[in-house]
This record gives sequence, structure tokens and C-alpha cells, in this order.
Amino acid sequence: MKVAVIYASTTGNTEAMANAINEACKASGAEVIFGTADSADKAAVTACDVILLGSPAMGDEVLEDTMEDFYTGIEGSLNGKKVGIFGSYDWGDGQWLRDWNDRLTNAGAVSAGEALMVHLTPEEADVEQCKAWAAAAIK
Ligand SMILES: Cc1cc2nc3c(=O)[nH]c(=O)nc-3n(C[C@H](O)[C@H](O)[C@H](O)COP(=O)(O)O)c2cc1C
Repeated sequence: MKVAVIYASTTGNTEAMANAINEACKASGAEVIFGTADSADKAAVTACDVILLGSPAMGDEVLEDTMEDFYTGIEGSLNGKKVGIFGSYDWGDGQWLRDWNDRLTNAGAVSAGEALMVHLTPEEADVEQCKAWAAAAIK
């Protein structure tokens, strides 16, 4: 099982989620491509069995810029791919993840599970939730 965990993070909150997700994927025995959206290899990512993408809510409920660029670059290659999304937010109600999920549906992606959001910095319980989410996503 090959899994890609690709994220963007401006202050480390989504990065902390990604680290927990990476850890859980590796603990499940998956081979993981782990990295940030600004340097990820699009072809290698879309060749994975499961793709887990993280971005904080930015602007007005939109993806962080480097993830927007990366995601736009792979959006046309996601038909039939299992994809999960996650990220940190502050004052919103998750609109950026609902919009991202709609884009995934339109791209023909298969959901790897409900989008996972954490308010600001992940606490210990949130880290555990990230790990459980990842384990379920790659089953
Ligand atoms: C410029 C800017 C725009 C933001 N826009 C939103 C937003 O639209 N909705 C929201 O819930 N949080 C918003 N936030 C809060 C961030 O999503 C939140 O601080 C998050 O924890 C950052 O995660 P990161 O450390 O992974 O970048 C914004 C923060 C900044 C700095």
C-alpha cells in the first residue's frame, strides 16, 4: 500500500496533523510519500493508492496558496482515486473543507473518509483522532 500525505501549513497546526497522520500510516505498514505541497512530485503522488491532503482554512474559507496550486495540478488525475482531506482552522465552520470535498467529488475521487478538521493547534486528543482517521482512511 502506497500512501501520499501532502500538506501546507503556515504556523505548524496542519503540519502537526500531517505528522500524526504520517506516523499512523507508517505504523500500519504503508509506504508513505510525505511532504509539503510546494515541493511534492505530482506524478508520484497520483500514483499512490491513497492520497491524504492537508490545508488550513485561509483567505476567506479557501485553501492555502501552495496547496491550491498543487491540488489544481493533480485535480485532473483523481478520477477513481481514494482521497482524504484534513486541516486546521480558527473562526469558520469548515466551509473550506466542504468546498474542497465538492471539488473532489466533481473530479471523480473516492472518499477516504469524512474530512477531518482541528481547531487551531492539535491537542493530544486531536492527535489521536488524526491517527485513527488515517488508519481508517488507508484500510
Ligand atoms: C490570512 C489568514 C486567513 C485565515 N482564514 C481563515 C478562514 O477563512 N476560516 C477559518 O476558520 N480560519 C482562518 N484562518 C485561521 C487559520 O486557518 C488557523 O490559524 C489555522 O490553525 C492555521 O493552520 P496552519 O498553522 O496549519 O497554517 C486564517 C488565518 C490567516 C492567517
